[in-house]
Amino acid sequence: MSRDWDQLEKWDRAYYLHGLQAASEYSYAPVDSMDGNWFTLADGTRMLDFMSQLISDSMGHRHPAIHAELARAMERYGHVYFGLANEYRARAAKLIIEDLLGETQWAGRARVFASGTDAVESCITMARLYTGKSIILTQAHSFHGMVMGSTMMRGYRANISPAGDFNQVQDIPGFPAQGYIPIPAPEFEDWQGEGRLPSLEATEQIVRAIGGENIAAVITEPMLGGGGTFPHSDYTAGLRDISKRHGFLWIDDEVICGVGRLGEWFGYMHWPGVEPDLIAAGKGLNGSALPVGAVIASKEISEHFEAARWWSGSTWDGHPLVCATIVGNLEYMLANNMLQQVRQRGAYLKERLDGLDAKHPSVGRVSGRGLFYTVDLVNGAGEPIVPEDRYSAFTGDLSDMPHNIVAGENAKRGVFLGGFTPNTIKLGPPFTITQDEIDLAVDSLDQALDVIDEKFVKN
Ligand SMILES: Cc1ncc(COP(=O)(O)O)c(C=O)c1O
Repeated sequence: MSRDWDQLEKWDRAYYLHGLQAASEYSYAPVDSMDGNWFTLADGTRMLDFMSQLISDSMGHRHPAIHAELARAMERYGHVYFGLANEYRARAAKLIIEDLLGETQWAGRARVFASGTDAVESCITMARLYTGKSIILTQAHSFHGMVMGSTMMRGYRANISPAGDFNQVQDIPGFPAQGYIPIPAPEFEDWQGEGRLPSLEATEQIVRAIGGENIAAVITEPMLGGGGTFPHSDYTAGLRDISKRHGFLWIDDEVICGVGRLGEWFGYMHWPGVEPDLIAAGKGLNGSALPVGAVIASKEISEHFEAARWWSGSTWDGHPLVCATIVGNLEYMLANNMLQQVRQRGAYLKERLDGLDAKHPSVGRVSGRGLFYTVDLVNGAGEPIVPEDRYSAFTGDLSDMPHNIVAGENAKRGVFLGGFTPNTIKLGPPFTITQDEIDLAVDSLDQALDVIDEKFVKN
């Protein structure tokens, strides 16, 4: 069927409420169709999706196993509200608790939502109800969602640059909200200092000042997704140790890293002996075939809520069609050893990126795990090209920022690959990526980095 893209553009420009770009700078890039690791623009251009959209579509687009389960579910189900049970929510919960987390024994129960943000908000509510305390520690550069509660936990600012002055940035009135206290971001993997990490030292001082008895939880990501930082190897266990000694919970936000992205079912599993109290999951649970999120609670926390009359729930809790996509995805991932595939393809991608690091003076750091890597770009002095780096306020002319230049160069070669913070390129292809497709994307990035070398290192 042919579509009238001119008409659709008019409606999109006139009626859709856009984010990120103001109407005056909005570039219309309509996607006509999606297929495996690729998508096709309305003008017929094919793009290799090397960022899985928002590091979300982990099984590529329209994966047959997920779609087949969804089609079967749609033969019997529409929406079932959470006061009634349905086949798929039981199967999804069993897969998460027994098959993904059974070996570790800490996890008790899971609840399925319609977004990662819902999962984060539920973790915060549960942590506060369970502990009877209110303060939540949140990390610089972190990202946890865009609605009011989760946006108060964001570790970067920049809610809106007003019309007429894109050099300004304003936070939502009320930010930072009472009860959310920032702690430093972790050091990078290649931090070379001696002794205890300064971020942990500073966090412990903040905790002492507040008093552990007032803190409900700390929320962190195993690898910062928006911020694009893989933490130093001492960080996560050190933070967990602080939370245990001072008696508050650890909420592990795995919305971006969970369900295979880092080569483990959940990112925290990279640190032996470390277990969270609550997990917020999302995207990878069903490869983002439908909007999804889930909270996973420890046995103790689960039983606390299960024994109570807990007045909670969203219209979409345990939605049978969402749960069917989780079942389709997880059963396929388990049966086809997708974790092993992520590790193998990831090792190849890392090797190729290390090659770019050796070749390009503008590459300052390559880090990550599984199929999630970041490339940090530097100038001739080895410093971040945009000095604010992960503290960028996203003001002024964004088209000249290194990540956007790289995205533009890659787009010319049919590769969807850029970043979010100005000096950091984020590579997060689908787990179904092939070696040839990795070569195609890395060769494109290689040429994009020639442009960055020329513009920011040699001049
Ligand atoms: C770590 C993290 N937490 C929470 C969220 C919010 O999830 P959602 O966009 O599904 O609401 C995101 C989204 O990118 C995320 O990366």
